Amino acid sequence: MERKVLIIDDDEESLRLYGDILRRAGYSPKTAGTGWEGIDLAVKEQPGLILLDLRLPDITGLTVLETLHTALSTKAIPIIVVSALSNDDNVMKAMQMGAFDYVVKPITYDDLVRRVELVFFSRERQGEGERAPVLVIEDSTADGSSLSEQLVGWGYTVKWVRTGTEGIEQASSGNYDVVLLDGLLPDINGFDVVKQIRSTERLGITPIIMLTVLSGLVDKLKGFESGVDVFLNKPVSWEELRVRMRSLTHLRGMSKQRFQLSEVVSVITNAIELAETTEPRHNQKVASIGVILGKRLGVLGHGLWILEMAGALHDVGKLAIDHRILTKPGKLDAAEWAEVVRHSEFGERIIKPVHGFAEIAEIVRHHHEKIDGSGYPDNLRGDEVSMYVRIVGVADSYEALTSDRPYRPAFARDEALGILRKETEEGRWDPVVIAALTESLDELEHL
Ligand SMILES: [Fe+2]
Ligand SMILES: [Fe+2]
Repeated sequence: MERKVLIIDDDEESLRLYGDILRRAGYSPKTAGTGWEGIDLAVKEQPGLILLDLRLPDITGLTVLETLHTALSTKAIPIIVVSALSNDDNVMKAMQMGAFDYVVKPITYDDLVRRVELVFFSRERQGEGERAPVLVIEDSTADGSSLSEQLVGWGYTVKWVRTGTEGIEQASSGNYDVVLLDGLLPDINGFDVVKQIRSTERLGITPIIMLTVLSGLVDKLKGFESGVDVFLNKPVSWEELRVRMRSLTHLRGMSKQRFQLSEVVSVITNAIELAETTEPRHNQKVASIGVILGKRLGVLGHGLWILEMAGALHDVGKLAIDHRILTKPGKLDAAEWAEVVRHSEFGERIIKPVHGFAEIAEIVRHHHEKIDGSGYPDNLRGDEVSMYVRIVGVADSYEALTSDRPYRPAFARDEALGILRKETEEGRWDPVVIAALTESLDELEHL
């Protein structure tokens, strides 16, 4: 799926900032400065998501929302509304009109990326998310029963307990997609309940919402430290709770899916390792180097995960190459070389059928491309070589140079860097990625 995001905002600074953040997280942002321009672009570009500022110079954000939601070609596009005010009535109106989520300015990197990722993730798994099991820890009978009633009405399965002790016991089973707790419980302080839940969790990914009448900043900070994901003030706004529940169950689903996929990928990496004894831990190391370089270059969230998976799988196609050729100590002849080259395409074919791995499969296909066009299999050049491919390519090359091979011993790190720098002057590598590598050398020592 194309990860196109349309940003409608009249503030140029915001357009630039959000565009930049999204690009780094692996999305392709399109921008519009007015409401009409935004509607136009939405129809033309069919983005996977729209970020809509509620205050626009020509028509209001709510009008844009309404127009997009009534037009046949744009009505299914999820919209996240952006507001500059923390208590904006228009936000709640937008939510009632069907906006997917909202954010309040100033938007942080993590927050924006996480919300955008949730939209794309939940689109890929339409229909799921609700019916999820929720644990409610609330001592007040009135609050507990009205909460449970609402949640059941939205399709969740609810388990309601009244004390912190029972809550911790239930939560430790790991069977809940979201935990909702009152900050003031009769037996244990809410923050301590959260801390204990976090300490018993296996994956540490259960989203926790704390309902509180305390709204002081200090309390919130204490709460975030203990592991609360979202605070909601009592009395609870049902509209807001519903939105938060929806995104948190998706978040839980996303973390779980990524965790499971990563486990499967490490099984495959182990298999490559066993079959291909000449390059110990090569794939794992390329994955780690790719992530380190990506972070230095400002890649975020999903983008880092992509780099990790692509690195871990980049040479999976070697499983389909004759083992005698791969382990041959001397130089390869032309026919043997032609065989080895095919590992990129084999790799792509092995991975491509996995749901959600199309982008990773493409990086695997291209991990031997160079920006001067001298690589394979498609002789891509310049901009055709994506940032991810550039990063994985450098990670792969550096790891290979600094490891023993059947046909030569390992180069020292300075020698390896010297070789890569010379090749960069010849136009093969991206100087920006090589600079990131140079800055990361110490970190790479410990892999
Ligand atoms: Fe390779
Ligand atoms: Fe490799």
